[in-house]
Amino acid sequence: MTSPEVLARELTQARERTLALVDFDDAELHRQYDPLMSPLVWDLAHIGQQEELWLLRDGNPDRPGMLAPDVERLYDAFVHSRASRFGLPLLPPTDARAYCRTVRDRALDALGAARTEDELFRFGLVISHENQHDETMLQALNLRSGAPILGTGGPLPAGRPGVAGTAVPVPAGPFTLGVNASDEPYSLDNERPAHTVHVDAFRIGRVPVTNAEWRGFIDDGGYRDPRWWSARGWEHRERAGLVAPQFWDDGALAGTRTRFGHVEEIPADEPVQHVTFFEAQAYAAWAGARLPTEIEWEKACAWDPALRERRRFPWGSAPPTPEVVNLGGQAMRPAPVGAYPAGASAYGAEQMLGDVWEWTTSALRPWPGFRPMIYDRYSEPFFEGSGAGDYRVLRGGSWAVAASIVRPSFRNWDHPIRRQIFSGVRLAWDV
Ligand code: AVJ
Ligand code: FE
Repeated sequence: MTSPEVLARELTQARERTLALVDFDDAELHRQYDPLMSPLVWDLAHIGQQEELWLLRDGNPDRPGMLAPDVERLYDAFVHSRASRFGLPLLPPTDARAYCRTVRDRALDALGAARTEDELFRFGLVISHENQHDETMLQALNLRSGAPILGTGGPLPAGRPGVAGTAVPVPAGPFTLGVNASDEPYSLDNERPAHTVHVDAFRIGRVPVTNAEWRGFIDDGGYRDPRWWSARGWEHRERAGLVAPQFWDDGALAGTRTRFGHVEEIPADEPVQHVTFFEAQAYAAWAGARLPTEIEWEKACAWDPALRERRRFPWGSAPPTPEVVNLGGQAMRPAPVGAYPAGASAYGAEQMLGDVWEWTTSALRPWPGFRPMIYDRYSEPFFEGSGAGDYRVLRGGSWAVAASIVRPSFRNWDHPIRRQIFSGVRLAWDV
């Protein structure tokens, strides 16, 4: 179990990150950059509200909190859609910051008194939640119009020639899908429990699909040819007028992209970002491939076929460092393909964690034996068949994900038409 000291440090790191993402004037924090995203001041107070609920009120909304009930309700994601949040009477930034600070002070006191695994788990949950919202805020800031207010990001290792477009084999056989609390105490409910599944042989991309490869799809007329698209995908392509990844300027004609307000050349060897599931599927068909299932993806990421056991990370048991993976948000972009040979999985797949979220063909489903965690509306309302809509699972985490919350078993999901997320593609093939 991670010590309370480590949890306190991770809480503090998440908070420093959050505060840096809201270090702007009040008008800026109330702006609606895009109807798909909340104003930043909503995320800020919502982070505090969730922390108060899980750490100070035992997850019981009927237990009195620090906010008036009608104010608290403004931060319920199930009550107010993202598109409607900027019109709400939200707490002003000064009040939101003060509320978050008060909650945090009491949460750190509670951490000092926490004893049981379940109590400590709740802190991990809150760390994951805050960091996930930090990524959401980065998605919002990337959609912002006007002169940039964020930098272009820190240094990254160089890529390696010859890896784009190559694949590694994953022979048929069983593996352990998912994890248990005994091995991964901070895994979320949808990652559990560990169980054996058989996976047929397949091949998977050694690295994600690059911008240069995607340019080949565009230049070959891929966006104009329905033969590569699913019926639903083509319908969406037509309706939304998709001709290139989001943020490629002038529908790819300019050869530049806009990233956090900065216009720059599109780096040829960087993993493509900002594509929908439907585009990913069409690209894969054009390339003579398919997308992986999330089960295939997890096997390629975590399974050690020689030892017949899971690795904690693709490269082994050592914690993530900047030498093996691009996480944490400092880079502000994915690393070029081939940048992390030392981060390869047992099968030789590279950049499975970090850089870009990778679309899979899988709908979000509970693993057999699923039990909801205290935050019981985190996963369950989004499971296939729950009526909440149509989601596809994304794996691996992006450059914007905190190293403290991502694991090979971590599951993300979104609608197949979304692409403001830091989403990319890794191909797979039958053998
Ligand atoms: C797991 C990223 C899909 O942002 O909707 C944040 C994470 N859940 N607050 C989302 C989440 C509640 C969730 N995703
Ligand atoms: Fe949330």
